[in-house]
Formats: sequence, C-alpha cells, structure tokens
Amino acid sequence: MKVDVLLGLQWGDEGKGKVVDVLTPKYDVVARFQGGPNAGHTLEFEGQKYVLRSIPSGIFQGDKVNIIGNGVVLAPDLFMDEAKELEKSGHELKSRLHISKKAHLIMPTHRLLDAANEAAKGKNKVGTTGKGIGPTYTDKVSRNGLRVGDILENFEEKYAAHKARHEEMLRALNYTDYDITDIEKHWMEGIEYMRQFELVDSEHEVNRLLKEGKSILCEGAQGTMLDVDFGSYPFVTSSNTICAGACTGLGLGPNKIGDVYGIIKAYCTRVGAGPFPTELFDETGSKIRAIGHEYGAVTGRERRCGWIDLVALKYAIMVNGVTKLIMMKSDVLDDFETIKACVAYNQNGHIIDYFPYDINEGIEPVYVEMPGWKQDLTQCSSEADFPQAFKEYIEFLEQQLETPIAIISVGPDREQTIVRG
Ligand code: GDP
Ligand code: IMO
Ligand code: MG
Repeated sequence: MKVDVLLGLQWGDEGKGKVVDVLTPKYDVVARFQGGPNAGHTLEFEGQKYVLRSIPSGIFQGDKVNIIGNGVVLAPDLFMDEAKELEKSGHELKSRLHISKKAHLIMPTHRLLDAANEAAKGKNKVGTTGKGIGPTYTDKVSRNGLRVGDILENFEEKYAAHKARHEEMLRALNYTDYDITDIEKHWMEGIEYMRQFELVDSEHEVNRLLKEGKSILCEGAQGTMLDVDFGSYPFVTSSNTICAGACTGLGLGPNKIGDVYGIIKAYCTRVGAGPFPTELFDETGSKIRAIGHEYGAVTGRERRCGWIDLVALKYAIMVNGVTKLIMMKSDVLDDFETIKACVAYNQNGHIIDYFPYDINEGIEPVYVEMPGWKQDLTQCSSEADFPQAFKEYIEFLEQQLETPIAIISVGPDREQTIVRG
C-alpha cells in the first residue's frame, strides 16, 4: 500500500508532467486530483513533444491505469480534443483512463463567466487561463455544480437548467455579447465521447487498488503559490493544489500518503497577475525566459521570470509536508556568471525569513549571490559529471530548505533526468 504525491512548490509550470512520466514505471496507477485544463504539462521523449491538460502524465508509460479524480474539473470538449490527439498518435486510452463520476463539468457558460468576472475586476484581474476554472469550482462549492455522473441520466434537462442560471448571471454582469452555438455543439460531442470511457467511483477504485497492494502516484497541477488557501490570494487558482488536495480530490485518507515530492525550478516563474517578490524586469529575466522557453503551454503568454525564492519555498515545503525535492531546469542557468537566491524578505524595512500574510506590497527580496557553473549541464548523465559550483548550489538549497533534492533534471527530455544515489 503506497500513495506518493508529486506537486509544484512555486507558481506552476515547474515541470510536473515530465517528472510524473519519468516516475510512472515505479507505480501501478497515476491520478490527477485537482485543477483542470488550466494545466499544461509538457512531456518530451523519443523526439516527440506532448502537452497534457486534463489527462494524467502517466498515460505514456505502458498500460498503467490513469485516473481523473473527483477533485478535477473537466471540460468535455477540450478533453475530447486532447484524447483524440493522443489516440491519433497511437496511444490507446479508453481501457486505462478512468474518470470520476464526481468530477465537475466545465460548461461553455463557465468560460463566459470566467471572462465576465475578469472583465468586472478591472485593474485587479487575476489573469486566469480563461478555461472556466473559477466559476466551475464556485458552482461546486455553492452546491450548484454539474458532475460527470450527471451525464448518465436526464442530462439535457439538467444542462439546460444550469445554462439558464448562468445566462442570468451573465446578464447581471452585463456580459451578453456572445454566441456559443458552435462551442456548445462541440461540447455536447465531448459529452458523447466521454461516455466511451469508464466513468467510475474513483474513491472506491483507488482504495480497492491500495488494498490489493498497488501503488499510486498523485499528480498535482498548478503550484502551491496558486493554492486557494495558502497561495498569493486573491491571485490564485480555485482549488487546493497542496498535498491535502490529493486526499479530498481522490478520497484518500491522509495516513495513506507516503512520500510528498515537491518540484521546483532552479529559478522561478509565474504566469498571470499577482505578486512575485523575486521577479526580474531586466535583461537577466529576459535571458532566463529566452533560454528556458518560458511561455505558457495553455495560453502562450510570456512567463514572468525571477530568481529562486527560498522564503516562499520553505513555506510550500511546510504546508505540503514535502519529504523530497525535485529540481528542474537547472540547465537554464548554465550561462550565468552568478546566481542569486532569495533568503529573506525586507518587508517595509523589517527583515523577515518567514512567508507573511500578504506579499502583495512592500516586499523586497534579500539575496545571497553565488558563482555560476558556466558549463553545459544537459550533457551530464550522472551526479559525478556535475561541475563543482553546481554541486555547491545544490548543497546550499538542501541546507536552506532542510530537505533532500532526490532528482535533478538537466533538460526537457525524459532521459535528461538524474536520480541521486
Ligand atoms: P508543468 O506544468 O509543471 O508540467 O510544467 P510545464 O510543462 O508547463 O513547463 C515546464 C517546461 O519546461 C516544459 O516545456 C518542459 O518540456 C520543460 N522542461 C522540463 N524539465 C526541464 C529541464 O530540466 N530543462 C529544460 N531546459 N526544460 C525542461
Ligand atoms: P500547470 O499545471 C501556471 C494561473 C493563471 C492565473 C491563475 C488563475 O501547468 O502548472 P485559473 O485559470 O486557474 O483560474 O487562473 O493561475 N495558472 C497557472 N499558472 N501553471 C498552471 O498550471 C496554471 N494554472 C493556472 O495564469 O494566474
Ligand atoms: Mg504547465
């Protein structure tokens, strides 16, 4: 019996998809527990590149069962497009991708409401992905949601009632200039397509599998700093991205959780609006963006780039109970004379080393500067190949974060992954 959880510790896009794919052979099952098509998880292997949004990143490794848990919000049209694309490239899904009947459906009108809410926020826009995530989770929590299981009975009727309620909300927001006829048609095709999959009571399934001695890897989406409770509120997503989300998003008891893998980039990025203490507005930021190809997989937006923030990371490690770290994109820093790490904040003249209630204003990072390694890490195939300055960077992070770094990624490909002894 074993459940490990793998999640992002920053503002998303840490490289979760790549690592889930790499770790999948060690597990029997991979399960997504929150988020939806706001996620974009990129995997590269055998010269191919895939971007997954709602489908777990364990789908490419043999015949492993992949589960979309109850905590996920699912857009049938986007799911169908994503799944068909994979099927086209020769990956059979229907027998091994199971969908929780309790997962909530993202309706076309949720996406309109997402846009309308953003427009109403004026200068304080969250910069959402526009996928309807917030309105769908709002409907879930306010007990108005439509779930995957609803498609099994009187669906048209239920859909019409939900749509009418949304239309009323859109009118109240003065958001009436839209035509969703084509989108709705495609969405309904998505519903029909979904019927071909196993729609399951995933809480029963995961617990039965555990009883049978199977192991499960839970794949997080977004990152801890986007968690609705602990992230940089209100510039967050609408789900619990932290480890506890795996319990509620799959129906797992907390005592079933083993390792909690926290994924970090060797630096830090953020897409969308909101505070980012270590953000770089200068050439260094642009250089990180260019070398790291830091553009959103879902929206194509420029990712904001900055140095690693150890204050925020210590907080993320704490709220998740992280047992092992995984560091990604180390190679992106290959060409820097010096590397900086934020070890404290100067909050309105006071130096603090803990993550405060509000980071929206008055926060200046306090940095430690280290020499760069100036060597191509992508060619390293074992730890022994690491340059001394990079070894020192790793040691520094482990000591500051009081957590071992178990895996180091030195390139986007599956093979460019070094598991430490
Ligand atoms: P996720 O949302 O956490 O799965 O991360 P994304 O896939 O959105 O963003 C990570 C990006 O970095 C993807 O384009 C990956 O292909 C790429 N990537 C992952 N690991 C590495 C690495 O070690 N080095 C480099 N250069 N790119 C990486
Ligand atoms: P992955 O899984 C990075 C950000 C959006 C926005 C905020 C709220 O690929 O790491 P939402 O559409 O969720 O209501 O948007 O959260 N965001 C992400 N940023 N990676 C993601 O997912 C994200 N999913 C949402 O940019 O700031
Ligand atoms: Mg991503």
